[in-house]
Amino acid sequence: MEPWVEALLAWYRAHPRPMPWRGHPDPYAVWVSEIMLQQTQVETVRPYFTRFLEAFPNIAALAAAEDGPLLKAWEGLGYYTRARNLRKAAQRVMAEHGGTLPREPAALRALPGIGDYTAAAIASLAFGAPTPVVDGNVARVFARRNLLGDDFRKPAPRRALAAWLTPHIEASGAPADFNQAMMDLGARVCTPRTPACLVCPLRPQCQAHATGRQGDFPHTPPARALPERRATVLLLRDCHGRLLLARHPGERLLAGLWELPTRESVPFPIPRTRLVGTHRQTFSHFRQTLTVRQATLPLDGAAAALPPDLVWCDDPASLPLTTATRKILAGDL
Ligand code: ADE
Repeated sequence: MEPWVEALLAWYRAHPRPMPWRGHPDPYAVWVSEIMLQQTQVETVRPYFTRFLEAFPNIAALAAAEDGPLLKAWEGLGYYTRARNLRKAAQRVMAEHGGTLPREPAALRALPGIGDYTAAAIASLAFGAPTPVVDGNVARVFARRNLLGDDFRKPAPRRALAAWLTPHIEASGAPADFNQAMMDLGARVCTPRTPACLVCPLRPQCQAHATGRQGDFPHTPPARALPERRATVLLLRDCHGRLLLARHPGERLLAGLWELPTRESVPFPIPRTRLVGTHRQTFSHFRQTLTVRQATLPLDGAAAALPPDLVWCDDPASLPLTTATRKILAGDL
């Protein structure tokens, strides 16, 4: 084991960052946490992880989950395809692996929602396999240490870095600690703008530190501007205060979640509406601006016939809502 690996492990063990999934004896829990952590920060994930495991305590329970409770448990975490893929993968594990999560990275990688990073994370954290994880945090640490000029948002440089790390994680004798140490070092010490080099265990070998070029690594060519999507959504209430909600169509992104209807999705005449405000949100592939207008209709929603993807709702909080809808209903405009 090289001195820097020893220093990295010593640093991690001296500065533990407790997380409810760390050291969890159940590989299922590690898997759920890694899916939640794919696009979401540790602090956000904590309460979701605990609630999710209470609602779906094992793979069999998740495989049998209904849409409503599943989406409700994920509501607010975003990237809802993750929840659907998690259930699909649980069903595959029941059918093809006797209900036990497979140990081999290739078999994990074959399940829906599990890519190279997540397969490596689960294999090492749950089963002790020497598979290095390379995410943005880890790439930053080693781009600086080794002065690597690659764009680590691309798969090829990530794979090359994983190959470089493999003999070191093998020699470490502690793959789970090695990977979590790298993640934590990138998240807490080797941060993007003001890295805390004075307390960094890798400082003796770090070529960026030696040459004062921490700010030059990793190279990140500027991202393309995201396209804008605009829509007007309606806060329509009936004479009893029930709110009209529409189910988001299709198979992707927000499918199945409930949201405020647009003018086009309402099959009856709408009276004059009043402007309430606008709501902005950035998704991975576009920016959305919603103009919110409201009106009260002189009808009783309970008596109205509606298509299946529209409801008059007494208690919107009981349905899985899109984040924008939840925020608009909370007055966050
Ligand atoms: N990001 C992804 N997986 C993680 C983990 N296990 N611990 C901390 N951050 C993470």
